[in-house]
Amino acid sequence: MRCLILYASVSENTEKVALRIQDVLRTAGLDVECIKVDHETEINLYQYDLVFLGSPVQVWLPVKTVMDFVCRTIAHYQKTGDLMPCSPVRPGKYAICFCTYAGPHTGISEAVPAIKWMRTFFEHLGFVVLDEWYTVGEFTGSEQNSTTGRLGDIKGRPNEGDLLEIESRTRGILEALRLFR
Ligand SMILES: Cc1cc2nc3c(=O)[nH]c(=O)nc-3n(C[C@H](O)[C@H](O)[C@H](O)COP(=O)(O)O)c2cc1C
Repeated sequence: MRCLILYASVSENTEKVALRIQDVLRTAGLDVECIKVDHETEINLYQYDLVFLGSPVQVWLPVKTVMDFVCRTIAHYQKTGDLMPCSPVRPGKYAICFCTYAGPHTGISEAVPAIKWMRTFFEHLGFVVLDEWYTVGEFTGSEQNSTTGRLGDIKGRPNEGDLLEIESRTRGILEALRLFR
């Protein structure tokens, strides 16, 4: 079972989540790579059996580095013929989408489009998306959005409690796939 964690992070909130997922996977003895996406990232996702893709939410969507990566990858699989009409399910290929978000205006509904955007990417490739993880993250650089938004005072988040929830969810996924030792 090969695992990949791909993520973007501007102010390290999403990175904290990605690294905690990595800890759990490593502790379970799995083969895991953790890669921060940049404008040159090119990866054959079909080499992996379980792929995590995470992004901060910006203006309701994933950040540009993630969206550009997705568009490049889709264009590649169009050329190779892997992107097929009806997107047949690839047995044994699983994905999880995760994000961190501050929800200052309307709460979690600001993060939903970002996650659904990433989810649709995997579904096009035939991956089964097992879950969507939404973690609150301080709006770094904006005191107002971190203290008086729809989610209240979110300074310091993701905090240890948030990261413990991620640990627990990661273990739950491994149990679901019967990989947890
Ligand atoms: C330019 C910018 C735009 C943002 N837009 C949104 C948004 O539309 N909705 C939201 O919930 N959070 C928004 N946020 C907050 C971030 O999603 C949140 O702070 C996230 O945890 C940052 O993750 P990172 O530290 O990994 O970059 C925005 C942050 C920035 C800097």
